Amino acid sequence: MKIPETGRDGEEVLAEMEARREDDADWQSGRTWSLVYHVDEPHKQFKDEAHALYSTQNALSPSAFPSLVGFENEVVGMLADWLGGDEGTVGNMSSGGTESILLAVKTARDWARAERGVDRPHVVLPETAHPAFSKGVHYFGLEETRVPCGEDWRADPEAMAEAVREETALVVASAPSYPHGVVDPVEEVAAVAREAGAMCHVDACIGGIMLASLRDLGRDVPPFDLSVEGVTSLSVDPHKYGYTAKGASALLWADDDHREHQYFAFDGWPGGVYAGPTMAGTRPGGPIAAAWGVMQKLGHEGYLDLAATTMETTEALLDGVADIDGLGVVAEPDMTIFAVESTDPELDAYGVHAEMTERDWGLGRQQRPESIHASVMYHHRDCVEDFLADLRESVAVAREADGGDDRAPMYGMNAEMAEDGDYANLAKTMLNDAVYRP
Ligand SMILES: Cc1ncc(COP(=O)(O)O)c(C=O)c1O
Repeated sequence: MKIPETGRDGEEVLAEMEARREDDADWQSGRTWSLVYHVDEPHKQFKDEAHALYSTQNALSPSAFPSLVGFENEVVGMLADWLGGDEGTVGNMSSGGTESILLAVKTARDWARAERGVDRPHVVLPETAHPAFSKGVHYFGLEETRVPCGEDWRADPEAMAEAVREETALVVASAPSYPHGVVDPVEEVAAVAREAGAMCHVDACIGGIMLASLRDLGRDVPPFDLSVEGVTSLSVDPHKYGYTAKGASALLWADDDHREHQYFAFDGWPGGVYAGPTMAGTRPGGPIAAAWGVMQKLGHEGYLDLAATTMETTEALLDGVADIDGLGVVAEPDMTIFAVESTDPELDAYGVHAEMTERDWGLGRQQRPESIHASVMYHHRDCVEDFLADLRESVAVAREADGGDDRAPMYGMNAEMAEDGDYANLAKTMLNDAVYRP
Protein backbone atom coordinates (compact mmCIF):
# COMPACT_ATOMS: atom_id res chain seq x y z
CA MET A 1 0.00 0.00 0.00
CA LYS A 2 1.37 3.38 -0.99
CA ILE A 3 -0.02 6.79 -0.17
CA PRO A 4 -1.86 8.06 -3.29
CA GLU A 5 0.40 10.21 -5.47
CA THR A 6 -2.23 12.90 -5.73
CA GLY A 7 -4.99 13.55 -3.26
CA ARG A 8 -8.44 12.08 -3.85
CA ASP A 9 -11.80 13.71 -3.83
CA GLY A 10 -12.99 14.07 -0.23
CA GLU A 11 -16.53 12.87 -0.96
CA GLU A 12 -15.17 9.80 -2.67
CA VAL A 13 -12.86 9.03 0.24
CA LEU A 14 -15.71 9.32 2.74
CA ALA A 15 -17.90 7.10 0.55
CA GLU A 16 -15.18 4.47 0.48
CA MET A 17 -14.87 4.64 4.26
CA GLU A 18 -18.62 4.15 4.60
CA ALA A 19 -18.51 1.19 2.25
CA ARG A 20 -15.62 -0.42 4.09
CA ARG A 21 -17.73 -0.63 7.23
CA GLU A 22 -19.90 -3.26 5.60
CA ASP A 23 -18.29 -6.20 7.40
CA ASP A 24 -17.96 -4.44 10.76
CA ALA A 25 -20.08 -5.35 13.75
CA ASP A 26 -23.58 -3.90 13.45
CA TRP A 27 -23.31 -2.06 16.76
CA GLN A 28 -26.02 0.50 16.13
CA SER A 29 -28.73 -2.13 16.13
CA GLY A 30 -27.43 -3.73 19.32
CA ARG A 31 -25.50 -6.72 18.00
CA THR A 32 -22.40 -5.94 20.12
CA TRP A 33 -22.37 -6.66 23.86
CA SER A 34 -19.04 -5.02 24.69
CA LEU A 35 -16.70 -2.46 23.06
CA VAL A 36 -19.46 -0.01 22.10
CA TYR A 37 -21.68 2.09 24.39
CA HIS A 38 -24.53 3.61 22.46
CA VAL A 39 -27.69 5.55 23.25
CA ASP A 40 -29.27 6.62 19.97
CA GLU A 41 -28.52 8.60 16.82
CA PRO A 42 -29.29 12.11 18.21
CA HIS A 43 -27.03 11.40 21.19
CA LYS A 44 -24.27 10.23 18.87
CA GLN A 45 -24.60 13.35 16.73
CA PHE A 46 -24.31 15.66 19.73
CA LYS A 47 -21.29 13.76 21.03
CA ASP A 48 -19.64 13.90 17.60
CA GLU A 49 -20.23 17.65 17.35
CA ALA A 50 -18.76 18.30 20.78
CA HIS A 51 -15.79 16.11 19.85
CA ALA A 52 -15.33 17.84 16.49
CA LEU A 53 -15.05 21.26 18.17
CA TYR A 54 -11.83 20.01 19.78
CA SER A 55 -10.55 17.34 17.38
CA THR A 56 -7.45 19.41 16.60
CA GLN A 57 -6.54 20.88 20.00
CA ASN A 58 -3.92 19.26 22.21
CA ALA A 59 -4.37 19.06 25.97
CA LEU A 60 -0.62 18.47 26.34
CA SER A 61 -0.33 22.21 26.86
CA PRO A 62 -2.47 23.53 29.69
CA SER A 63 -1.39 27.08 28.79
CA ALA A 64 -2.42 27.02 25.13
CA PHE A 65 -5.92 25.66 25.71
CA PRO A 66 -7.24 26.77 29.09
CA SER A 67 -10.74 25.80 27.97
CA LEU A 68 -9.61 22.16 27.83
CA VAL A 69 -8.06 22.36 31.30
CA GLY A 70 -11.38 23.73 32.45
CA PHE A 71 -13.34 20.87 30.87
CA GLU A 72 -10.94 18.29 32.31
CA ASN A 73 -11.11 19.74 35.82
CA GLU A 74 -14.88 19.99 35.65
CA VAL A 75 -15.30 16.39 34.42
CA VAL A 76 -13.07 15.27 37.29
CA GLY A 77 -15.05 17.50 39.68
CA MET A 78 -18.45 16.18 38.54
CA LEU A 79 -17.27 12.58 38.84
CA ALA A 80 -15.59 13.17 42.21
CA ASP A 81 -18.77 14.72 43.57
CA TRP A 82 -20.85 11.76 42.32
CA LEU A 83 -18.42 9.10 43.48
CA GLY A 84 -17.88 9.94 47.11
CA GLY A 85 -15.09 12.49 46.77
CA ASP A 86 -14.76 15.65 48.84
CA GLU A 87 -13.01 18.99 48.53
CA GLY A 88 -9.65 17.20 48.81
CA THR A 89 -10.27 14.95 45.79
CA VAL A 90 -8.02 15.56 42.79
CA GLY A 91 -7.56 13.82 39.45
CA ASN A 92 -6.92 13.87 35.74
CA MET A 93 -8.46 12.46 32.63
CA SER A 94 -6.67 9.86 30.54
CA SER A 95 -7.27 8.04 27.27
CA GLY A 96 -9.13 5.09 28.80
CA GLY A 97 -9.47 2.69 31.68
CA THR A 98 -6.20 0.98 30.85
CA GLU A 99 -4.23 4.22 30.97
CA SER A 100 -5.83 5.22 34.28
CA ILE A 101 -4.97 1.82 35.74
CA LEU A 102 -1.41 1.92 34.37
CA LEU A 103 -1.00 5.30 36.05
CA ALA A 104 -2.33 3.95 39.35
CA VAL A 105 0.16 1.06 39.21
CA LYS A 106 3.07 3.32 38.27
CA THR A 107 2.13 5.77 41.02
CA ALA A 108 2.04 2.94 43.58
CA ARG A 109 5.48 1.84 42.46
CA ASP A 110 7.04 5.28 42.72
CA TRP A 111 5.27 6.05 46.00
CA ALA A 112 6.44 2.76 47.56
CA ARG A 113 9.99 3.34 46.38
CA ALA A 114 10.09 6.94 47.61
CA GLU A 115 8.11 6.67 50.84
CA ARG A 116 8.70 3.08 51.94
CA GLY A 117 12.04 2.23 50.35
CA VAL A 118 10.59 -0.81 48.56
CA ASP A 119 12.68 -1.67 45.53
CA ARG A 120 10.26 -4.03 43.74
CA PRO A 121 6.74 -3.21 44.89
CA HIS A 122 3.99 -5.82 44.88
CA VAL A 123 0.29 -5.68 43.97
CA VAL A 124 -2.46 -7.85 45.47
CA LEU A 125 -5.55 -8.18 43.32
CA PRO A 126 -8.48 -10.52 42.83
CA GLU A 127 -8.21 -12.91 39.88
CA THR A 128 -11.09 -11.06 38.22
CA ALA A 129 -9.33 -7.67 38.15
CA HIS A 130 -8.82 -6.27 34.67
CA PRO A 131 -5.65 -7.35 32.77
CA ALA A 132 -4.62 -3.67 32.65
CA PHE A 133 -3.21 -4.13 36.19
CA SER A 134 -1.01 -7.01 35.01
CA LYS A 135 0.01 -4.93 32.02
CA GLY A 136 1.14 -2.20 34.45
CA VAL A 137 2.95 -4.72 36.63
CA HIS A 138 4.71 -6.00 33.51
CA TYR A 139 5.53 -2.57 32.04
CA PHE A 140 6.77 -1.03 35.28
CA GLY A 141 8.61 -3.98 36.82
CA LEU A 142 6.44 -4.74 39.85
CA GLU A 143 5.24 -8.13 41.08
CA GLU A 144 1.67 -9.26 41.53
CA THR A 145 -0.39 -11.92 43.25
CA ARG A 146 -3.76 -12.66 41.69
CA VAL A 147 -5.90 -14.14 44.44
CA PRO A 148 -8.74 -16.62 43.73
CA CYS A 149 -12.23 -15.23 44.37
CA GLY A 150 -14.93 -16.77 46.50
CA GLU A 151 -17.69 -18.91 45.01
CA ASP A 152 -19.70 -15.78 44.27
CA TRP A 153 -16.79 -14.50 42.14
CA ARG A 154 -16.24 -11.59 44.51
CA ALA A 155 -12.77 -10.79 45.87
CA ASP A 156 -11.94 -12.81 48.97
CA PRO A 157 -10.49 -10.26 51.46
CA GLU A 158 -9.11 -12.93 53.82
CA ALA A 159 -7.23 -14.65 51.03
CA MET A 160 -6.02 -11.25 49.83
CA ALA A 161 -4.77 -10.41 53.32
CA GLU A 162 -2.77 -13.65 53.27
CA ALA A 163 -1.19 -12.63 49.97
CA VAL A 164 0.07 -9.32 51.38
CA ARG A 165 3.87 -9.06 51.69
CA GLU A 166 6.18 -6.48 53.12
CA GLU A 167 6.57 -5.07 49.60
CA THR A 168 2.82 -4.77 48.95
CA ALA A 169 2.17 -1.25 47.70
CA LEU A 170 -1.24 -1.59 46.09
CA VAL A 171 -4.40 -3.58 46.79
CA VAL A 172 -7.16 -3.64 44.19
CA ALA A 173 -10.94 -4.04 44.11
CA SER A 174 -13.31 -3.87 41.13
CA ALA A 175 -16.71 -2.22 41.03
CA PRO A 176 -17.74 -4.32 39.30
CA SER A 177 -15.39 -6.85 37.73
CA TYR A 178 -15.83 -7.16 33.99
CA PRO A 179 -16.16 -10.96 33.72
CA HIS A 180 -19.10 -11.50 36.10
CA GLY A 181 -20.48 -8.03 36.86
CA VAL A 182 -20.17 -8.31 40.64
CA VAL A 183 -18.83 -5.62 42.98
CA ASP A 184 -15.99 -6.72 45.25
CA PRO A 185 -16.35 -6.10 49.01
CA VAL A 186 -14.59 -2.76 48.74
CA GLU A 187 -14.75 -1.93 52.47
CA GLU A 188 -13.02 -5.18 53.41
CA VAL A 189 -10.46 -4.94 50.61
CA ALA A 190 -9.67 -1.33 51.60
CA ALA A 191 -9.21 -2.54 55.20
CA VAL A 192 -6.65 -5.09 53.94
CA ALA A 193 -4.82 -2.24 52.20
CA ARG A 194 -4.91 -0.04 55.31
CA GLU A 195 -3.59 -2.85 57.46
CA ALA A 196 -0.76 -3.38 54.96
CA GLY A 197 0.02 0.37 54.79
CA ALA A 198 -0.69 0.11 51.07
CA MET A 199 -2.68 2.11 48.57
CA CYS A 200 -6.12 0.86 47.53
CA HIS A 201 -7.39 1.38 43.99
CA VAL A 202 -11.02 0.79 43.05
CA ASP A 203 -11.45 -0.05 39.40
CA ALA A 204 -14.83 1.50 38.68
CA CYS A 205 -13.92 1.98 35.03
CA ILE A 206 -16.95 0.17 33.73
CA GLY A 207 -19.21 0.54 36.74
CA GLY A 208 -18.65 3.93 38.36
CA ILE A 209 -21.28 5.92 36.50
CA MET A 210 -23.80 3.06 36.29
CA LEU A 211 -23.48 2.12 39.99
CA ALA A 212 -23.76 5.76 41.10
CA SER A 213 -26.87 6.13 38.93
CA LEU A 214 -28.46 2.94 40.28
CA ARG A 215 -27.69 4.08 43.83
CA ASP A 216 -29.40 7.41 43.16
CA LEU A 217 -32.38 5.51 41.76
CA GLY A 218 -32.71 3.90 45.19
CA ARG A 219 -31.39 0.50 44.20
CA ASP A 220 -29.21 -1.58 46.46
CA VAL A 221 -25.60 -0.84 45.60
CA PRO A 222 -22.78 -2.00 47.87
CA PRO A 223 -20.31 0.68 49.03
CA PHE A 224 -17.69 1.03 46.33
CA ASP A 225 -16.47 4.60 45.92
CA LEU A 226 -14.08 7.19 47.35
CA SER A 227 -16.21 7.55 50.47
CA VAL A 228 -15.02 4.11 51.63
CA GLU A 229 -12.28 4.52 54.24
CA GLY A 230 -8.90 3.47 52.90
CA VAL A 231 -9.69 3.85 49.20
CA THR A 232 -6.89 6.02 47.85
CA SER A 233 -7.80 6.13 44.15
CA LEU A 234 -10.58 5.22 41.75
CA SER A 235 -10.81 4.99 37.98
CA VAL A 236 -14.05 5.67 36.11
CA ASP A 237 -14.60 5.84 32.37
CA PRO A 238 -16.98 8.38 30.83
CA HIS A 239 -16.40 6.58 27.51
CA LYS A 240 -18.24 3.53 28.85
CA TYR A 241 -21.55 4.06 30.71
CA GLY A 242 -21.01 7.82 30.51
CA TYR A 243 -21.80 7.38 26.80
CA THR A 244 -19.16 9.96 25.81
CA ALA A 245 -16.69 9.76 22.92
CA LYS A 246 -14.00 7.07 23.04
CA GLY A 247 -10.76 8.08 24.74
CA ALA A 248 -12.11 9.35 28.07
CA SER A 249 -11.35 7.98 31.52
CA ALA A 250 -10.70 9.70 34.83
CA LEU A 251 -8.26 8.77 37.58
CA LEU A 252 -9.41 10.25 40.90
CA TRP A 253 -7.26 10.52 44.02
CA ALA A 254 -8.89 10.73 47.44
CA ASP A 255 -6.36 13.41 48.37
CA ASP A 256 -3.00 14.85 47.36
CA ASP A 257 -0.94 12.28 49.25
CA HIS A 258 0.03 10.08 46.31
CA ARG A 259 -0.56 11.94 43.08
CA GLU A 260 2.81 13.67 42.89
CA HIS A 261 4.20 10.19 42.14
CA GLN A 262 1.96 9.97 39.07
CA TYR A 263 3.70 12.80 37.23
CA PHE A 264 6.69 12.57 34.97
CA ALA A 265 8.97 15.53 34.37
CA PHE A 266 12.25 15.66 32.46
CA ASP A 267 14.55 18.67 32.45
CA GLY A 268 17.45 17.37 30.34
CA TRP A 269 16.00 17.82 26.88
CA PRO A 270 17.21 20.50 24.47
CA GLY A 271 13.57 21.12 23.60
CA GLY A 272 12.84 22.36 27.10
CA VAL A 273 11.53 20.98 30.37
CA TYR A 274 8.89 18.37 29.55
CA ALA A 275 6.20 17.32 31.99
CA GLY A 276 2.72 15.86 32.01
CA PRO A 277 0.27 13.95 34.15
CA THR A 278 -0.44 10.96 31.89
CA MET A 279 1.28 8.34 29.74
CA ALA A 280 0.41 10.07 26.48
CA GLY A 281 2.36 13.01 25.11
CA THR A 282 -0.17 14.57 22.81
CA ARG A 283 -3.51 14.41 24.60
CA PRO A 284 -6.44 14.59 22.19
CA GLY A 285 -8.79 17.44 23.07
CA GLY A 286 -11.87 15.81 21.52
CA PRO A 287 -12.59 13.13 24.13
CA ILE A 288 -12.10 15.57 27.03
CA ALA A 289 -14.38 18.18 25.50
CA ALA A 290 -17.00 15.61 24.45
CA ALA A 291 -17.04 14.11 27.96
CA TRP A 292 -17.77 17.55 29.40
CA GLY A 293 -20.37 18.28 26.72
CA VAL A 294 -22.21 14.98 27.09
CA MET A 295 -22.25 15.16 30.89
CA GLN A 296 -23.66 18.68 30.71
CA LYS A 297 -26.26 17.73 28.11
CA LEU A 298 -27.48 14.57 29.87
CA GLY A 299 -27.24 15.86 33.42
CA HIS A 300 -27.88 13.72 36.47
CA GLU A 301 -31.47 13.07 35.43
CA GLY A 302 -30.44 11.99 31.97
CA TYR A 303 -28.01 9.44 33.37
CA LEU A 304 -30.63 8.13 35.80
CA ASP A 305 -33.09 7.61 32.95
CA LEU A 306 -30.48 5.75 30.90
CA ALA A 307 -29.49 3.61 33.90
CA ALA A 308 -33.10 2.77 34.80
CA THR A 309 -33.86 1.55 31.28
CA THR A 310 -30.59 -0.34 30.97
CA MET A 311 -31.12 -2.08 34.32
CA GLU A 312 -34.70 -3.01 33.38
CA THR A 313 -33.38 -4.41 30.09
CA THR A 314 -30.80 -6.42 32.04
CA GLU A 315 -33.49 -7.81 34.34
CA ALA A 316 -35.64 -8.82 31.36
CA LEU A 317 -32.63 -10.62 29.88
CA LEU A 318 -31.81 -12.33 33.18
CA ASP A 319 -35.44 -13.49 33.54
CA GLY A 320 -35.29 -14.84 30.00
CA VAL A 321 -32.03 -16.70 30.68
CA ALA A 322 -33.51 -18.20 33.87
CA ASP A 323 -36.35 -19.64 31.75
CA ILE A 324 -33.99 -21.47 29.40
CA ASP A 325 -33.32 -25.01 30.44
CA GLY A 326 -29.59 -25.67 30.73
CA LEU A 327 -28.43 -22.05 31.20
CA GLY A 328 -27.85 -19.97 34.31
CA VAL A 329 -25.99 -16.81 35.33
CA VAL A 330 -22.53 -17.38 36.75
CA ALA A 331 -23.12 -14.85 39.55
CA GLU A 332 -26.07 -12.61 40.37
CA PRO A 333 -24.83 -9.32 38.87
CA ASP A 334 -24.77 -6.00 40.76
CA MET A 335 -25.45 -4.00 37.60
CA THR A 336 -25.83 -4.36 33.86
CA ILE A 337 -23.11 -6.93 33.13
CA PHE A 338 -23.51 -10.67 33.41
CA ALA A 339 -22.11 -14.02 32.33
CA VAL A 340 -24.16 -17.06 31.34
CA GLU A 341 -22.91 -20.60 31.82
CA SER A 342 -24.23 -24.04 31.07
CA THR A 343 -25.85 -25.76 34.04
CA ASP A 344 -26.20 -29.03 32.16
CA PRO A 345 -23.20 -31.31 31.56
CA GLU A 346 -24.75 -32.26 28.19
CA LEU A 347 -24.72 -28.65 27.03
CA ASP A 348 -21.54 -26.86 25.93
CA ALA A 349 -21.56 -23.10 26.67
CA TYR A 350 -19.06 -22.53 23.85
CA GLY A 351 -21.40 -24.36 21.46
CA VAL A 352 -24.14 -21.90 22.43
CA HIS A 353 -21.71 -19.01 21.98
CA ALA A 354 -20.73 -20.30 18.53
CA GLU A 355 -24.34 -20.46 17.43
CA MET A 356 -25.07 -16.97 18.78
CA THR A 357 -22.01 -15.74 16.82
CA GLU A 358 -23.41 -17.47 13.74
CA ARG A 359 -26.56 -15.41 14.31
CA ASP A 360 -24.49 -12.21 14.45
CA TRP A 361 -24.55 -11.54 18.19
CA GLY A 362 -21.14 -10.26 19.35
CA LEU A 363 -20.79 -11.76 22.82
CA GLY A 364 -17.70 -12.45 24.93
CA ARG A 365 -16.40 -16.00 25.31
CA GLN A 366 -14.94 -16.37 28.80
CA GLN A 367 -12.77 -19.09 30.27
CA ARG A 368 -13.43 -19.17 34.03
CA PRO A 369 -16.00 -20.57 34.07
CA GLU A 370 -16.70 -21.33 30.39
CA SER A 371 -19.36 -18.72 29.82
CA ILE A 372 -20.89 -16.09 27.59
CA HIS A 373 -20.41 -12.45 28.59
CA ALA A 374 -22.83 -9.59 27.98
CA SER A 375 -22.52 -5.91 28.89
CA VAL A 376 -25.99 -4.45 28.43
CA MET A 377 -26.21 -0.94 27.00
CA TYR A 378 -29.11 1.45 26.69
CA HIS A 379 -29.83 0.65 23.05
CA HIS A 380 -30.26 -3.06 23.81
CA ARG A 381 -33.72 -2.23 25.10
CA ASP A 382 -35.00 -2.88 21.60
CA CYS A 383 -33.54 -6.32 21.10
CA VAL A 384 -34.43 -8.33 24.22
CA GLU A 385 -36.96 -10.57 22.48
CA ASP A 386 -34.83 -11.27 19.41
CA PHE A 387 -31.85 -11.96 21.62
CA LEU A 388 -33.69 -14.40 23.88
CA ALA A 389 -35.34 -16.15 20.93
CA ASP A 390 -31.93 -16.70 19.35
CA LEU A 391 -30.47 -17.80 22.67
CA ARG A 392 -33.20 -20.44 23.08
CA GLU A 393 -32.63 -21.68 19.54
CA SER A 394 -28.85 -21.64 19.99
CA VAL A 395 -29.20 -23.89 23.03
CA ALA A 396 -31.27 -26.31 20.96
CA VAL A 397 -28.68 -26.27 18.16
CA ALA A 398 -25.79 -26.72 20.61
CA ARG A 399 -27.55 -29.72 22.17
CA GLU A 400 -27.79 -31.36 18.76
CA ALA A 401 -24.21 -30.49 17.77
CA ASP A 402 -21.62 -33.18 17.71
CA GLY A 403 -19.14 -32.04 20.34
CA GLY A 404 -18.48 -28.47 21.35
CA ASP A 405 -16.81 -25.67 19.52
CA ASP A 406 -13.06 -25.34 19.28
CA ARG A 407 -12.51 -21.60 19.24
CA ALA A 408 -10.46 -20.12 22.05
CA PRO A 409 -11.87 -17.87 24.78
CA MET A 410 -10.02 -14.80 23.51
CA TYR A 411 -11.19 -11.29 24.28
CA GLY A 412 -12.09 -9.59 21.02
CA MET A 413 -10.24 -12.00 18.72
CA ASN A 414 -11.34 -15.10 16.87
CA ALA A 415 -8.87 -17.93 17.30
CA GLU A 416 -8.74 -21.69 17.30
CA MET A 417 -7.80 -23.45 20.54
CA ALA A 418 -4.00 -23.51 21.03
CA GLU A 419 -2.73 -27.05 20.78
CA ASP A 420 -0.11 -26.51 23.47
CA GLY A 421 -2.48 -24.47 25.64
CA ASP A 422 -0.18 -21.43 25.49
CA TYR A 423 -2.75 -18.77 24.72
CA ALA A 424 -0.58 -15.79 25.56
CA ASN A 425 1.88 -16.94 22.91
CA LEU A 426 -0.91 -17.68 20.46
CA ALA A 427 -2.32 -14.20 20.98
CA LYS A 428 1.06 -12.53 20.41
CA THR A 429 1.64 -14.62 17.28
CA MET A 430 -1.77 -13.64 15.97
CA LEU A 431 -1.14 -9.97 16.63
CA ASN A 432 2.22 -10.22 14.91
CA ASP A 433 1.40 -12.42 11.94
CA ALA A 434 -2.27 -12.09 11.26
CA VAL A 435 -3.62 -8.79 12.51
CA TYR A 436 -1.12 -5.95 12.51
CA ARG A 437 0.70 -6.50 9.23
CA PRO A 438 0.00 -4.42 6.12
C1 LIG B 1 -13.48 -3.20 34.93
C2 LIG B 1 -12.68 -2.66 33.79
N1 LIG B 1 -11.50 -2.06 34.03
C3 LIG B 1 -10.74 -1.57 33.05
C4 LIG B 1 -11.12 -1.66 31.74
C5 LIG B 1 -10.21 -1.14 30.67
O1 LIG B 1 -10.77 -0.04 30.01
P1 LIG B 1 -10.29 0.45 28.58
O2 LIG B 1 -10.71 -0.62 27.62
O3 LIG B 1 -11.01 1.74 28.39
O4 LIG B 1 -8.84 0.62 28.59
C6 LIG B 1 -12.33 -2.28 31.43
C7 LIG B 1 -12.78 -2.43 30.06
O5 LIG B 1 -13.81 -2.98 29.76
C8 LIG B 1 -13.14 -2.80 32.49
O6 LIG B 1 -14.30 -3.41 32.26
